[in-house]
Amino acid sequence: MLGAYRGTIDDGGETLDDARGEVVKTLTGGYGAFDFEASEVIEREGVVVAGTIVTHYERLPMIAFSLTRPEWRRQGLARGGLLRVMHRLARARHARVQLAVTCGNTPAERLYESLGFTDV
Ligand SMILES: CC(C)(COP(=O)(O)OP(=O)(O)OC[C@H]1O[C@@H](n2cnc3c(N)ncnc32)[C@H](O)[C@@H]1OP(=O)(O)O)[C@@H](O)C(=O)NCCC(=O)NCCS
Repeated sequence: MLGAYRGTIDDGGETLDDARGEVVKTLTGGYGAFDFEASEVIEREGVVVAGTIVTHYERLPMIAFSLTRPEWRRQGLARGGLLRVMHRLARARHARVQLAVTCGNTPAERLYESLGFTDV
């Protein structure tokens, strides 16, 4: 998580402890109930290199985090993760999914637009 955000528009100079706090907050419902069924991480040689993390916030599923380690980017890991997450949510009878993205986070905005997300 820390490595994925480092140097991006969302980098607020967070520390490893800050990132740990975010993980705990996410797993314990701070962004809505954590969805263990829908969420996933991708590992390569025992290291987590990407993740797509789902919670349920204000009655809609939400992509709380889509993250790829810098050295693993532009290989379709985030797109693949999001597509699998959306299929799992659809099978669980969710017709919509929400997320929040910082304006100017071009990689994420392009990715989400290409998957059909629209501004609300
Ligand atoms: C956004 C992020 C998750 C994308 O991860 P990724 O695994 O590199 O994404 P993918 O390889 O699946 O890319 C899918 C598409 O996204 C778009 N995209 C990804 N990176 C891009 C970039 N640097 N510039 C422009 N478009 C980009 C492209 O449309 C790309 O398709 P293409 O490679 O066929 O052109 C990654 O850059 C990241 O971890 N960013 C920091 C964390 C973050 O901001 N997360 C989102 C907000 S919660």
